[in-house]
Amino acid sequence: MRRFVVFGQKATASGDFLFDDLPGTSGRLDVLLRCVRAALLYSHGIRRDVTVYLVLGGGPRAPRVLRIDPRAQFLRPDERSLAILANKVLTPEERASDTSFVEVRPGVSILSGGLAAVLADMRGAPLYVLEENALDLRDDVSLGGPEDAFFVGDHLGFDPHTRAALAEAGGRAISVGPLSLHAEDAITIVSNELDRRGAPRAAWATPGRGTTARRAP
Ligand SMILES: C[S@@+](CC[C@H](N)C(=O)[O-])C[C@H]1O[C@@H](n2cnc3c(N)ncnc32)[C@H](O)[C@@H]1O
Repeated sequence: MRRFVVFGQKATASGDFLFDDLPGTSGRLDVLLRCVRAALLYSHGIRRDVTVYLVLGGGPRAPRVLRIDPRAQFLRPDERSLAILANKVLTPEERASDTSFVEVRPGVSILSGGLAAVLADMRGAPLYVLEENALDLRDDVSLGGPEDAFFVGDHLGFDPHTRAALAEAGGRAISVGPLSLHAEDAITIVSNELDRRGAPRAAWATPGRGTTARRAP
């Protein structure tokens, strides 16, 4: 299972936020929810080989980790629906002390903990840290294994402790291009690169397949 792990330095680890002002009341949980969409969903489909971890570092219940895998039901691409899901999972008090992942609904799990708990769940997978100014992912031939785990920062990037811990755990820094992108866009580019590496070109570049490849009559 390919993994994307997104760090929300201030993203709230509780359900105390307003759906009508998600950016202003949730420590930018909205950034992380867009990452869920980018990592797990494509047009009219869900990636069956991807799991997403949201590391929530904000508020009195932090740190907590929300894990979503492809068995999750009714995942919709809009931010509000994803916020409703996060709210339902993060709200109940009794879940605040779970120290191993507890599945609270199919494909959606939560735990109390942070990076160390996430790394334990990786079980020796190759780790890649998405960083500006690092090796171009197109030049990294090791990329593309089924267990690859990609770590992504939020709008604040990685805090120094997380960056150092990921390096110590063997994380390889890779870049998706010369600009600093929004986190969800960086995820889309990684997924696209892996899609390209995994599917023979003929499977997606056949003239006449899809609308954009057709010639005008
Ligand atoms: C908006 S950026 C963070 C910017 C933040 N101000 C900083 O200096 O770290 C959000 C995250 O997307 C990923 N990202 C953005 N642009 C990238 C790039 N060109 N290559 C690799 N990862 C990138 C990184 O993980 C980054 O932490």
